[in-house]
Amino acid sequence: MPSPVVDLRSDTVTKPTPAMRKAIAEAEVGDDMFGEDPTINRLEARVAELLGKEAAVFACSGIQSNQIGLRAHCTSGDEILLDESAHIFHYEQGAPAALHGVTCRVVRGTGGIFSPADLHGLVRGEDQHDAITRLVCVENTTNRGGGLAWPLAAFREVADWAHAQGLGVHVDGARLFNACQAAGYSPAEFCQYADTISICFSKGLGCPMGSMLAGSTRHIARARRARKLFGGAIRQGGMMAAAALYSLDHHVGRIEEDHVHARFLAERIAGLPHLTVNLDSVQTNIFMIEVSPEWGTAAEYASRLAHRGILVFAIGPQRLRVCTHLDVSKEVLEKVVGAFAQVASEVATTFPIA
Ligand SMILES: Cc1ncc(COP(=O)(O)O)c(C=O)c1O
Repeated sequence: MPSPVVDLRSDTVTKPTPAMRKAIAEAEVGDDMFGEDPTINRLEARVAELLGKEAAVFACSGIQSNQIGLRAHCTSGDEILLDESAHIFHYEQGAPAALHGVTCRVVRGTGGIFSPADLHGLVRGEDQHDAITRLVCVENTTNRGGGLAWPLAAFREVADWAHAQGLGVHVDGARLFNACQAAGYSPAEFCQYADTISICFSKGLGCPMGSMLAGSTRHIARARRARKLFGGAIRQGGMMAAAALYSLDHHVGRIEEDHVHARFLAERIAGLPHLTVNLDSVQTNIFMIEVSPEWGTAAEYASRLAHRGILVFAIGPQRLRVCTHLDVSKEVLEKVVGAFAQVASEVATTFPIA
């Protein structure tokens, strides 16, 4: 594979910058199981305040943070409502069932965004045959949904509806800061309607690892117990908390760059033969490209791009996902467009169209 590679498979591929590594090396640490890691304590307090919640708990990963969040709300025999594209449903090994005895009931929104009308009639629990509906989960931005940011009013409607039914609201905010940048609300403005929120430092914020669950003192106490149960106890994790604090200071403000880069790529790729991009849905750092079956499959397209040093993710048989991030500079964008154009033009000789 040619070097250097431009890796657009995910924003999880970023490497810590030299300044972030310095912050990691210099972190003050202690044993977090005794509540004595000053850097983790500082990060938890800061995120709780940023999201407008009473408390927060540091977690190893986005999945751990989501799952301890679910555990804070649910018990065996409960059911959660979420979009069919949700990470919690698709990519967490059936963890709601595997870890908590909780079933998922999915709705079909648009790009991962749904409304109370989509949830209408789905609340169960009155009858002894039923699972008990406990929670609505919202993902912001939507990953498989194509990087869409929930409009504040749409989220408020869903959350108000859920609360009126006596349900809790959990947000998988792995890319909450991308959503805030794109949709123009603050983290606290969005989170005021949620009971628990998971955010990730290892995606758009460019940290090597780490997530955080925020919510009420009661929810976070339950989640903290679950984190221990799931083997997520952290000892001198202040080094990773230092990276997260660094990213809050230095990487939140630059997220807009990733969105500008994604739009640039989307607009140029949309003009190429055999490829379709819905430009209206390009809002953040993730966008989808449909590969015409006449050309071949998305996997084949990705493989040919890889030979040119461009990595993208074939997320469906005919669908590619492109994700910009901290390690994708403006300088490489033309190279990316050039590789897409070359692969598109190869088809005429390699796959003659019938
Ligand atoms: C929306 C969303 N939630 C949760 C996760 C899980 O994060 P992790 O890989 O840190 O467990 C991801 C990972 O990409 C994600 O995209």
